[in-house]
Amino acid sequence: MSNEPAIAPTIESEFAVLPQHIGVIMDGNGRWATAQGKPRNDGHRAGVEALRRLVACAVEFEIDYLTIFSFSSENWTRPADEINAILGLMKRFVASDVSKFVAHNVRVRILGRREGLSKAILQMIDQAESRTAHCTGLQLNVAFNYGGRQEITDAVRALVQDAAAGKISAADIDEAAIAEKLYTAGMPDPDLIFRSSGEERISNFLLWQAAYAEFVFYDEFWPEFDREIFVRMLEEFAGRKRRFGGVGA
Ligand code: IPE
Ligand code: IPE
Ligand code: MG
Repeated sequence: MSNEPAIAPTIESEFAVLPQHIGVIMDGNGRWATAQGKPRNDGHRAGVEALRRLVACAVEFEIDYLTIFSFSSENWTRPADEINAILGLMKRFVASDVSKFVAHNVRVRILGRREGLSKAILQMIDQAESRTAHCTGLQLNVAFNYGGRQEITDAVRALVQDAAAGKISAADIDEAAIAEKLYTAGMPDPDLIFRSSGEERISNFLLWQAAYAEFVFYDEFWPEFDREIFVRMLEEFAGRKRRFGGVGA
């Protein structure tokens, strides 16, 4: 007699525990290009294609929130031509895909500091956010000019302003009050944070929100990302035992 179960487990049953919110540090564009003797900016271009595949996966698996790290507050230290290439690509990605987002019920939010961004980028942000504001499927957060420490600093500043205006007192400052001042106010924390390219660090991404995230690090460079990697990541997440400081089930 065979030991095979009568009904083979389907992908759906395997993913009984799907993450509600996935954060992705899309790393390795430059090394992917260099390894092929191409300029780094070719890697950023290929990275946008990988990002489109990621969004398609998140829609297919009905993930509620996807936060992608597209440009950090520290990335301004890169050479000007690379910065311009990345900003141009992100601007075009958001602008050109906005109709597709609406068609797939994807709501776009841009997380990060707005000060210092060009008029054209601010316009792109406003348009993407307003044109998709009614969408109720996947929420795609684009962390752009984003730094976790900056985000917490901005939150502290906002709380101090509220206190100075007499709206709150020191006793009102609790975790919920801080979370409400973050760019992610009202959103659940990420359950899973994925980073490509073999680097195993957080690089100032979602510092506060990642308190109990599960981390998955794979060696593939970001432009190599595909559905097979996404599924592998979900499988790994489903196998994790999350305890949140307790003793577990
Ligand atoms: C990630 O790829 C994209 C951004 C940081 C904008 P990198 O450009 O960091 O690629 P590597 O890490 O140098 O290979
Ligand atoms: C993190 O990658 C930022 C983004 C993916 C946008 P980096 O390549 O900037 O991070 P480090 O410098 O390796 O830590
Ligand atoms: Mg990098």
